[in-house]
Amino acid sequence: MQARIPADLDRKESEVYRQLDPERLPRHIAIIMDGNGRWAKRRHMPRAAGHRAGVTAVRSTVETAARIGIQALTLYAFSEENWKKRPKSEVDFLMRLLSRYLKAEVPTLNKNNVRLEYIGRQHELPEDVQERMAWARTNTGHNTGTVLTLALNYSARSELVDAFRSMVDTAAQNGGIDHLLIDEEAVRSHLYTRDLPDPDLVVRTSGEMRLSNFLLWQLAYAEIYVTSTLWPDFRGVHLLEGIAEYQKRERRYGGLNHGDSPAHSAPAKVTK
Ligand code: FPP
Repeated sequence: MQARIPADLDRKESEVYRQLDPERLPRHIAIIMDGNGRWAKRRHMPRAAGHRAGVTAVRSTVETAARIGIQALTLYAFSEENWKKRPKSEVDFLMRLLSRYLKAEVPTLNKNNVRLEYIGRQHELPEDVQERMAWARTNTGHNTGTVLTLALNYSARSELVDAFRSMVDTAAQNGGIDHLLIDEEAVRSHLYTRDLPDPDLVVRTSGEMRLSNFLLWQLAYAEIYVTSTLWPDFRGVHLLEGIAEYQKRERRYGGLNHGDSPAHSAPAKVTK
């Protein structure tokens, strides 16, 4: 049966969407947005121009994800390492860009029924940016469609440290260290992403093959899709291409290939 094409997909997007099985869309897609600097360098422009163009890519990707009904989209916008290792002028520019994006984008997020969330150590960000973030979250809080999570000042290792601290604090408040229970479910329920399913698909742009300290716990079984497209050139159609590739993969979660029963993979029995 031909999939019904969601309204508002453009011609190229519709062509790729037609190849997809709408019953097997990834529930949660995580994206490592990379290549803004290289995009600008190729055009002999300052890095800031690459970041500015990156906002257009964010807009297109979020709209397409929302239109096809992706439950959760998480964008790695700013790592803890970015914050510490980039020149102050670039960090300041990124903060202003984020602030402007949040102010301008709320009506479009509402139009697309997108709810904003954040992960990362927000308290270390400039106060005015924190206020703008809180404002945008509140003003999209009623939406019931895609949850758009921006990873800001985020590090997966810090997230795990924060989760362990939170587990210890919770035990201390509930009768002391004897009440500390550590198992996978306990860790999961203290992560920043505790209200989201783990990503099924992680996309990285600009051809790099690294996870760069992004959602290390949550990506344990995610399919990885790397595209050479630089982030500022990325659009909704590229997201759909990533989903098409994801749908070609067979997810095994450490098990056997579909159709391979243990009997097939066991060593042949020696008979006389
Ligand atoms: C990586 O490119 C990108 C970033 C560090 C920042 C991402 C920011 C944006 C896409 C724009 C603002 C985001 C939002 C959510 C409004 P890079 O600078 O590391 O590129 P390079 O590896 O080519 O130097």
